[in-house]
Amino acid sequence: EKLAIVTIDGPAGVGKTTISRMVAAHLGYTCLDTGAMYRSFAWMLTRTGHDGEDLKKDPSLLAMLGNVEMVLLPPLPGEENGRVRLGGQVLGPELRTEAISFLASEIASLPELRRVLTLMQQRLGAKGRVVIEGRDTGTVVFPQAAWKFFLDATPEERTTRRLRQLRARGDMATSEAALLESIVARDLADRNRSIAPLVAAADAYTIDTTNLDIRAVVGEMLAHIGSKP
Ligand code: C5P
Repeated sequence: EKLAIVTIDGPAGVGKTTISRMVAAHLGYTCLDTGAMYRSFAWMLTRTGHDGEDLKKDPSLLAMLGNVEMVLLPPLPGEENGRVRLGGQVLGPELRTEAISFLASEIASLPELRRVLTLMQQRLGAKGRVVIEGRDTGTVVFPQAAWKFFLDATPEERTTRRLRQLRARGDMATSEAALLESIVARDLADRNRSIAPLVAAADAYTIDTTNLDIRAVVGEMLAHIGSKP
């Protein structure tokens, strides 16, 4: 049986977060940003003085990190990304650094970590009426979702979009070349890992957003869902 769930998967910088917020607002659904959960584990790892190798070698570390209460919070007014409450601390921009992006992608290839986070995601989305975004949400987390989308765009276009966001936030330091390189590297890692790789589900509706603006993408998605934009 299909669940009232919309999954949105796709590569870094394609606009999943903005788009999932708009689709969710239209449908009256909540949002679940699974990338924020991988980022949270990466952040806790760094915070406790560890790296990805430590996590691979020491399973007790995963148990420890898994015991920290994690609550996804909505974005503050004027912000795109939601916040995450980890134990007693509320995190926002700390989760969005390049270092955390890379570490998140690195530890996302560990089966034990994916098992923990996938279970949490399934528990959080079980009641339905939720838009879930990530890399494997339509393939692994909720294969029984009623509507699955795969959003794509060229690496160059995604770099342009990310750069615009960074500049709007006052980041003038990150260079276009460095950003393109990091986006390409993360895609490669996400697409080629052996567990839950970034790939469109067989029954996903794929949209190449390279030449579309956000409104057009959201409109096409809502039309597919059968809800008037
Ligand atoms: O979407 P976001 O860029 O925040 O995700 C950060 C990283 O977390 C991704 O590069 C990917 O390696 C990992 N991730 C994942 N599966 C998900 C969501 C994110 O492997 N469902």
